[in-house]
Amino acid sequence: MPGLSMAESGGGRDFPAKLTLQVFICTIIAAFGGLMFGYDIGISGGVTSMDDFLEKFFPAVYLKKHEAREDNYCKYDNQFLQLFTSSLYLAAIVSSFIASFFCKKFGRKPTIQAASIFFLAGAVLNAAAVDLGMLIAGRLCLGVGVGFGNQAVPLFISEIAPAKYRGGLNICFQLLITIGILIANLINYATSKVHPYGWRISLGGAAAPAIILAIGSLAIMETPTSLLERGKNEEALRVLRKIRGVENVDKEYSEILNAIELAKQVKHPYRNLMSRSNRPQLICGTVLQFFQQFTGINVVMFYAPVLFQTMGYGSDGSLLSAVVTDSVNVVSTLVAVFLVDIIGRKVLLIEACLQMLVAQSIMGRILAVHLKSTNIMPGGSAKLVVILICVFVSGFAWSWGPLGWLIPSEIFPLETRSAGFFFAVSMNMFCTFLVAQAFLTMLCHMRSGIFFFFAAWIVVMGIFAIFFLPETKGIPIDEMNERVWKKHWFWKRYYKGSEINKRRQEIQDKPEEESLQ
Ligand code: BGC
Repeated sequence: MPGLSMAESGGGRDFPAKLTLQVFICTIIAAFGGLMFGYDIGISGGVTSMDDFLEKFFPAVYLKKHEAREDNYCKYDNQFLQLFTSSLYLAAIVSSFIASFFCKKFGRKPTIQAASIFFLAGAVLNAAAVDLGMLIAGRLCLGVGVGFGNQAVPLFISEIAPAKYRGGLNICFQLLITIGILIANLINYATSKVHPYGWRISLGGAAAPAIILAIGSLAIMETPTSLLERGKNEEALRVLRKIRGVENVDKEYSEILNAIELAKQVKHPYRNLMSRSNRPQLICGTVLQFFQQFTGINVVMFYAPVLFQTMGYGSDGSLLSAVVTDSVNVVSTLVAVFLVDIIGRKVLLIEACLQMLVAQSIMGRILAVHLKSTNIMPGGSAKLVVILICVFVSGFAWSWGPLGWLIPSEIFPLETRSAGFFFAVSMNMFCTFLVAQAFLTMLCHMRSGIFFFFAAWIVVMGIFAIFFLPETKGIPIDEMNERVWKKHWFWKRYYKGSEINKRRQEIQDKPEEESLQ
C-alpha cells in the first residue's frame, strides 16, 4: 500500500463524511452549555436593576438610584454590585484550567456533565440566597459550571463535526448563548413585576438549561479523538463510522491516530504550548478572545437595562429595549451559522469591524451631545441609540462573537488543543471580568468617551484580522499546521527547523498500514 502522503491524507481534499443526525443532535445538546452561559450573561443586568434585589443586597445602590439629582453616568457605580456580576468570571478562569486537564484525562462528555451539575448547584444557591455571601457563593458555582462548559463544548463540537460543516455547527454554541441571553431578559421582564421575590425566579431559572444539559448529555457520544487519546481504539472507530455516516473512515481515523501519536510524545502540553512552533496558534487564539471582549459587547449585554435607564427609559422600557437588542443578537448569529463555511471567517470579521466602528462612534457622539449629568435624554436621540446598539450587536453576532469561540477551537494541534483552548477561554473570562468590574466605574469617569475607547480597539482588531489571521474555512482540524500556519506569510517563520515539526512530518510520511495498527 502506498505511503500516506500529505496530499492523500487530506492535504488537498476532505475526508468522506455526511452531516449525520447523530452529529446534529449531539451538537444541539452540547450547545445547551452555551444556553447556560448566555442565560447568566443576560440575567445579571436585569436583576441588578430590580429594586427588590437592590434593596435586599445593595441598599447603598438602591438609595443612590432613587436620589433624583444623582449623576446620570454614576448612579450605579458600586464595586460590590459589579462584583456580583463579575465574580462568576473569576471562578470560570480557575475552573477552565482544571477543566482542560479533566477534558484530556476523562473526555469531553464527562466535562460537559460536570458543568451542568455545578451550574445547577449555583442556580439553587442563588435562588435561595438570604445574604450577599450566599449570592456570591452561587455565582462562584455558576462560574465553575461556565468554565467547564466553555472549555469542553466548543472542542467537542469541533471534533465531531465534518470539516465542511464545522463552522456552522460550532456556531450553534454561540447561537444558544444568544438564545440564553434573550430568554433571560424575557424572564427578567416578567419577573420584575413580581414583588418582592421576582429576582429569585430569574436567578433560579438557570436551573432549567442545567437540567436539560445534564439529562441530554447522557445521550451524546464521546468524540473519536478523545476516545483514541484514552486508548479506546475500537470504540473510536465505531463512533467515527456512526457520526460520519460512511463505512470507509480509514483516512480520517489514521489522521487522528497520527495526531495522537505525536501528542503522546508531548509530556507537558503547557510547556510545549510555549515553544516557538505553537506561538502562532497561541497568539491568535488568545488575542481573538481579548478582541472579542474589547468590542465592548458586554457593556451592552450586562448593562443594557442600566444603560437604557441612564438614558431616561423607565425600568420597563429598559428591559424591553434589552429584549429588542437580544433578538437582533439571535437572528444575526443565524447569519453566521449559514455563511461561515461559505464565505469564510475573515470576511465576516473584517466587515463587522467597519459596522461596529460606525455604530460605536455615532453612539458616543450622541451621548456626548445629549446626555449630560442630570438631564433626561431627548426621546428621538434615545431611540437612535437603541437602533445603533442593534447595528453594533448584529455586527458582533455574525463575527467576533461566534468566531471568538470557533477559531481557537479549531486551530491547535491535538497535543496542545485542550491547553491552548484553556488560554483562549480564560482570556475571554478575564476580559469579561475586567469589563464587568470596570464598566460602571469607567462610565462614571469617562462618560460617553467610553464608546470611543472601544471604537479604538475595533480599529486594532480589524487590522489584526486583515493581516495576521489565516483563513481556516473547510480545513480538517488535524491538518491546520500543514495547510494553514506553515503557508501564512507571517506565521510560517515560526516553523523553520522546529523539532515537533520534524516528528510530525515523519509520522505523516509513515506507511498507512503502520499508522492504522
Ligand atoms: C461572548 C459573551 C457575550 C455574548 C453575546 C459571547 O460570544 O463570549 O461575552 O456576552 O457572546 O452574545
